[in-house]
Amino acid sequence: MKHLDISKALKDTTLIGETVVVCGWVRTFRDSAAVSFLELTDGTSFQKLQVVIDKSVLKPDPECLKLGASVFVKGEVVKAYKGEGNELNAKEIALLGNCPAEYPIQKKRTTLDFLRGIPHLRLRTNTFQAVFRVRSVAAQAIHRYFHDNGYYYINTPLITASDCEGAGEMFRVTTQPWQTGYKTEEEYYKEDFFGVKAGLSVSGQLEGEVAATALGKIYTFGPSFRAENSNTKRHLAEFWHVEPEIAFAELPDVIEIAESLLKYLINAVLTECPEEIKFFDSFVEKGLIDKLTHVATSDFGVCTYTEAVKILEKENEHFQFPVHWGSDLQSEHEKYLTEQVFKRPVFVTDYPKEIKSFYMKQNADGKTVAATDCLVPGIGEIIGGSEREANFDKLVAAMKARGMDMDSYKQYLDLRLFGSVPHGGFGLGFERFVMYVTGMENIRDVTLFPRSVKNIM
Ligand code: 4AD
Repeated sequence: MKHLDISKALKDTTLIGETVVVCGWVRTFRDSAAVSFLELTDGTSFQKLQVVIDKSVLKPDPECLKLGASVFVKGEVVKAYKGEGNELNAKEIALLGNCPAEYPIQKKRTTLDFLRGIPHLRLRTNTFQAVFRVRSVAAQAIHRYFHDNGYYYINTPLITASDCEGAGEMFRVTTQPWQTGYKTEEEYYKEDFFGVKAGLSVSGQLEGEVAATALGKIYTFGPSFRAENSNTKRHLAEFWHVEPEIAFAELPDVIEIAESLLKYLINAVLTECPEEIKFFDSFVEKGLIDKLTHVATSDFGVCTYTEAVKILEKENEHFQFPVHWGSDLQSEHEKYLTEQVFKRPVFVTDYPKEIKSFYMKQNADGKTVAATDCLVPGIGEIIGGSEREANFDKLVAAMKARGMDMDSYKQYLDLRLFGSVPHGGFGLGFERFVMYVTGMENIRDVTLFPRSVKNIM
């Protein structure tokens, strides 16, 4: 159906006096003695297009005037009587799809909780349209950042036999029916599709390292899956993961790249989505624009895990989980550091080796690894990264200490035998980034169809 995007019909002054066709959904309808007004949206812009119906000229089907109905309108573009932009004087209105009164998206403010129950319709609201426009702009900006900086975009497998994070949080992939009678797990999986136990990848990093140690600088941007039993506002079972991997990079390089990527993305969203960000600033997080502008223009904090623990220990009485050297940082600790102490994003570095993954470079102190988490106010961890252990013997020792099955990692270990180089990278949780720039507090509200514990609508 030939038609014009509403974003163009609204803004393009050269169209004034022209007759155009637009299509969209009715957002509001107002009536007076001589004229009626429809507000239309087709998703292409925040602002709605006002359609003016001169009742002496046009008598549209009443179904066209109902909230949620989809319509086709032919009309003349004129300068808006009030406010900015153009409006349309209707010459012809046709119904595309009627919308009964039970339409759940009514004008009165519907709660986010209610809208989560109708994921197929909630995108018709201003809030969700704004979230998903920002999400799209941010995704494009990710590709642009890496492309402009000489990285190759690679795609790593989603089905894998190796657990990157070693946390046992993999969803199993199987075609085997449930059966008893097998003596061992191995025997059971031998008859499975791949002949071994397989699962959905929690991270593309291990394959990313393969590519980086040949192509130099690569990134992946795709889904990762985690079967962690964390029913929180920042966990999903399926999330989108941005993972650059860089040869010849050490931990400070990894931190520098992570900071530069975040700033680039924030600037892109501020520049390309000004109306959406203004909306979030007014209705979702007061002060959002100031926060983002400040973050994009000032240095992030950096502190070691050991320094962080010293700071946190002083506040132990206020925490549900008191901190000591060696304990994993919980969300409450991450939030305290970034919200109360640094009041900006902060990279925490050099964690105890016992609480981090096997592949991280072991520091000379024998106790810590060259890892970093980037924590941001309101969310906590948004990035996890590290320099990788490039020494074969040290990596084997770390894997043995964790009781890992070495056979599944033969190719990964080979990278340390054939021209091993220092290298590193990080993973940015894309949904957590979108939460940060929109101010949305629940990860399910920045995801089209969120998957989480006991939820697969
Ligand atoms: O810290 P993580 O587990 O790091 C890795 O997976 C590394 N292999 C990445 C790398 O170095 N290439 O995860 C990285 C980020 C987290 O900081 C978080 O933002 C996001 O992925 N993330 C999740 N986001 C939503 N739901 C979950 N269940 C997430 N788990 C991790």
